Amino acid sequence: MVKRTIKFVKKKKTNTYSQINHNIKNRKVARDVFITPEPLAKMLIDTHINKPEYIWFDPFRNSGHFYNNFPFQNKKDWCEILDNKDFFKYDKPVDIISSNPPYSLIDKVMAHSFKIARHEVGYLIGINNLTTKRIEVANKAGFYIKYIQMFKVYKFFGFSIYVIFSKDIDKNIIDYNRTIWR
Ligand SMILES: C[S@@+](CC[C@H](N)C(=O)[O-])C[C@H]1O[C@@H](n2cnc3c(N)ncnc32)[C@H](O)[C@@H]1O
Repeated sequence: MVKRTIKFVKKKKTNTYSQINHNIKNRKVARDVFITPEPLAKMLIDTHINKPEYIWFDPFRNSGHFYNNFPFQNKKDWCEILDNKDFFKYDKPVDIISSNPPYSLIDKVMAHSFKIARHEVGYLIGINNLTTKRIEVANKAGFYIKYIQMFKVYKFFGFSIYVIFSKDIDKNIIDYNRTIWR
């Protein structure tokens, strides 16, 4: 009888797309710094309804890809914790919020955004981050979903969406139900 020896060959580590996704899933500490490609930020800004008197606000500026591309004729402001400007300490009223928030703080971010925004709150988030509970929280704060665009950003986990909650409408563009069906 011939004895068979099984050799385990260690796979070479490759930085493939699926490897990147896998690493994100197993991350122990939220890093929360994900830079939005500038052409995407520009496209998302254009999905808002603007008026000359509106104040635009980017609570999480980092690269400035949102902030720098807000309509040039409007007033605008920003926060970024890395520059010691904490969004949660910002309490001036603004009209349009548009950004890519830290995903580990979404509930807190939404609650504070709905307190200071007078018209629209637009956030780039993972598609799984839009939960029925969060839609309900928005509705209770007087904001309703008026727009959703879905897309893929290389290196962001799964698919992303840009969702706009508006205070100027009284119905979501999608229906939802909070029952957990079994
Ligand atoms: C997902 S990144 C997005 C950066 C930028 N908006 C973009 O799209 O390129 C989130 C940013 O929020 C910042 N951040 C986290 N907590 C914050 C806070 N409490 N106030 C202000 N900025 C904060 C992080 O430093 C990070 O730069």
